[in-house]
Amino acid sequence: MSNQHNQEKLSSARFSESTDAFVEAFTASIQFDKRMYKQDIQGSVAHAKMLTKVGILNESELADIINGLTQVQNEIEAGKFQWSIQQEDIHMNIEARLTSLIGITGKKLHTGRSRNDQVATDIRLYIRDEIDAILPELKRLQTGLVELAEREADSIMPGFTHLQTAQPVTFGHHMLAWFEMIKRDVERLEDCRKRVNTMPLGSAALAGTTYPIERQYTAELLGFDRITENSLDGVSDRDFAIEFTAFASTLLMHMSRFSEELVLWSSAQFQFIDLPDRFCTGSSIMPQKKNPDVPELVRGKTGRVYGHLMSLLTLMKSQPLAYNKDNQEDKEPLFDTVDTVKGSLRAFADMVPAIQVNREITYEASKRGFSTATDLADYLVGKGLAFRDSHEVVGLAVAHGIKTGEDLSEMSLETLQGFCDKITDDVFDVLTLEGSVAARDHLGGTAPNQVRAAVARAKAYLVDSE
Ligand code: ARG
Repeated sequence: MSNQHNQEKLSSARFSESTDAFVEAFTASIQFDKRMYKQDIQGSVAHAKMLTKVGILNESELADIINGLTQVQNEIEAGKFQWSIQQEDIHMNIEARLTSLIGITGKKLHTGRSRNDQVATDIRLYIRDEIDAILPELKRLQTGLVELAEREADSIMPGFTHLQTAQPVTFGHHMLAWFEMIKRDVERLEDCRKRVNTMPLGSAALAGTTYPIERQYTAELLGFDRITENSLDGVSDRDFAIEFTAFASTLLMHMSRFSEELVLWSSAQFQFIDLPDRFCTGSSIMPQKKNPDVPELVRGKTGRVYGHLMSLLTLMKSQPLAYNKDNQEDKEPLFDTVDTVKGSLRAFADMVPAIQVNREITYEASKRGFSTATDLADYLVGKGLAFRDSHEVVGLAVAHGIKTGEDLSEMSLETLQGFCDKITDDVFDVLTLEGSVAARDHLGGTAPNQVRAAVARAKAYLVDSE
């Protein structure tokens, strides 16, 4: 242990024996909460400025504190800071080092605050910073999806229900479904940010403080939109962390579904797409293998994020007001959620625009499975049949196709007329894949026209949200 940390242990005066060495390590959080060093220093600088404004510290003390904290930050960033388990957590480590650098003034910094409101503030600052880093990554993924959608606006692939061929869709339309999901995730995250950006500092240990603090001023310095209105709630609320993890769970659920499709589509059985080699790996034993590792891993990582959401919900469910040490357990799930979201988004944002679509294969696949059967039924309705009757007629035609191996579009007019004499040769306009997708030409439909219109809207949205 270096000299700088040979300080009295926190609250030592009250204790007649020192903490058991194992308990000290067991209860410490410095191993993981050091990640919030920047936010802790940022919060302390703002707190010190506020204390100076209200006359608790003088200008020269403030200057010492700011200089000292700047040095602490430099030491941390240079990898020279001596972290100490005895100092338990990030707050005590920094304060102890500050005091060793500037003497007694360092001990004044904690006036009018507690680690309880300090840690609650740090986590909010930390998540806010991470939200501001994640939002552009979400936009980058959306941009990739829009790019791919535009490129593949006319490409035809089978659309599925029950993973059975249902109706042809355009590949671009399919990509824009993912865009919509991510758009809702962005909205959820932006909404979460509003509640994250609320300052609990000033709640002190739980009841507030006797010092004439100016919370609004500190909040302005830290860029908080508002301050918490109840000190008990301020120190013990972790809803924002749960909300963030719920956002992350929904995002990963979306990305996992997407992953599942990419894994299927890149298989030898589908061959709809090629994933760029740099996102795949080989097998150590089977030379022919190219494994879609990135989507598989994202699908797998979804589980741990769900787990973190459950951890945080469970962590909070039986805590009486106000702060309890339990809350120290909020950080690791939160940090791992942040890492997982950022890693998954980065990989996907890089990979998606590089996806290659095998257009002939998706086109041929669309012809299998009678994907234009609904179009024939709609056509017959246009010729005066009731939908249920036309459904019946088409069922017979499909049964015939299954026997002969023909798609509906490959049957002769005479054959089709055998099922219903109202069919004329304009039927082939609707039985082709191109006719089928082009006919779904309304907002939300799969027609290439609509894909292009949706791409234009998506681009405008991405510009607007910059
Ligand atoms: N390391 C603690 C945490 O992460 C900081 C707050 C500790 N407060 C206390 N009264 N023990 O929650």
